[in-house]
Amino acid sequence: MKSPVRVAITGAAGQICYSLIFRIAAGDMLGKDQPVILQLLEITPAMKVLDAVAMEINDCAFPLIHDVITTDDPTVAFRNADVALMVGAKPRGPGMERADLLKDNGKIFSSLGKIINDVAGDDIRICVVGNPANTNAYILAQNAPKVKARNITAMTRLDHNRAIYQLAAKTGRQLSEVTKMTIWGNHSTTQVPDISNALVSGEAATSLVDNDWAENEFIPTVAKRGGAVIAARGSSSAASAANGIVDHVHDWVLGSAEGDWVSMSVPSDGSYGIEEGLIYSYPVTCKDGDYSIVQGLELSDFIQRKVKESEAELIDERDTCSDLF
Ligand code: NAD
Ligand code: LMR
Repeated sequence: MKSPVRVAITGAAGQICYSLIFRIAAGDMLGKDQPVILQLLEITPAMKVLDAVAMEINDCAFPLIHDVITTDDPTVAFRNADVALMVGAKPRGPGMERADLLKDNGKIFSSLGKIINDVAGDDIRICVVGNPANTNAYILAQNAPKVKARNITAMTRLDHNRAIYQLAAKTGRQLSEVTKMTIWGNHSTTQVPDISNALVSGEAATSLVDNDWAENEFIPTVAKRGGAVIAARGSSSAASAANGIVDHVHDWVLGSAEGDWVSMSVPSDGSYGIEEGLIYSYPVTCKDGDYSIVQGLELSDFIQRKVKESEAELIDERDTCSDLF
């Protein structure tokens, strides 16, 4: 039996976590043979609901669960954690952009970043989900200098999965046929879903759909999908967001599929001309618990312009919250 992995999860009594925790407990994220200790963090007023979540976890009798810790003390939640899923933050409502959350949510990531720095190991793998996810991850990183910078990531896997669905639906093909989808940039409406290198059962996606659809329908549909879910549901995506987290961490830890890549927001190393250090979504391959940015892709003038627009938005977000780091 493997020794258990400690997974810290913030916002554990919220909507996303009500799906997420049960997927992790079932072994979907770290493997069906990997025991886990859940270290669940909430704010004090939500502890009663969190207790109920813990009751339900226990009532599932998941064999992989070795312990469930519930706490409103971040030092307890992050201590010795191997993985941290940073979900706890306000969601946006109708008519808001994700960046409008920065003022309230940014503070959460600066204070939790400091605590992670103090009590977690330097090898902890962090996935930031609370919006605006990329800039919150940047804030966290600035406050947690002891943690390996490349281990602080943000989630654009939901956007990646949304893009795969849109292309499969447009071409009338199965989801499993689509590979090499890419999301560049920020998890916001400036993100750049890009089918330039995508394949559908080995055929170039660009030969199956016209350019006008790719530029004027596909990109805005994927980029605004979060808003469309909010308009339809009255609150933001939850089960699909949880699924994105499971996919993000699964592939990071256990490896991405051979011959394919996934999208992750990771600290830029300057690849594709993006300012170093920004938490930027790239196509990456994952192996042996690490990721590498896919190199050498050709960007059309159109994609190049959009990639730079998303970078500019991230620089702007970073500059508006410099008081937090
Ligand atoms: P929710 O309101 O249902 O749950 C958030 C939970 O976080 C609440 O229970 C709240 O008490 C808790 N919380 C607030 N501050 C906290 C803190 N300092 N420490 C610990 N817990 C804290 O919201 P949700 O639907 O679960 O969404 C959570 C966040 O995820 C939002 O910011 C949302 O916009 C974001 N989100 C991101 C993506 C993505 O693709 N990156 C997708 C969906 C949602
Ligand atoms: C999403 O993409 O569904 C989330 O970021 C929630 C939102 O505010 O759109």
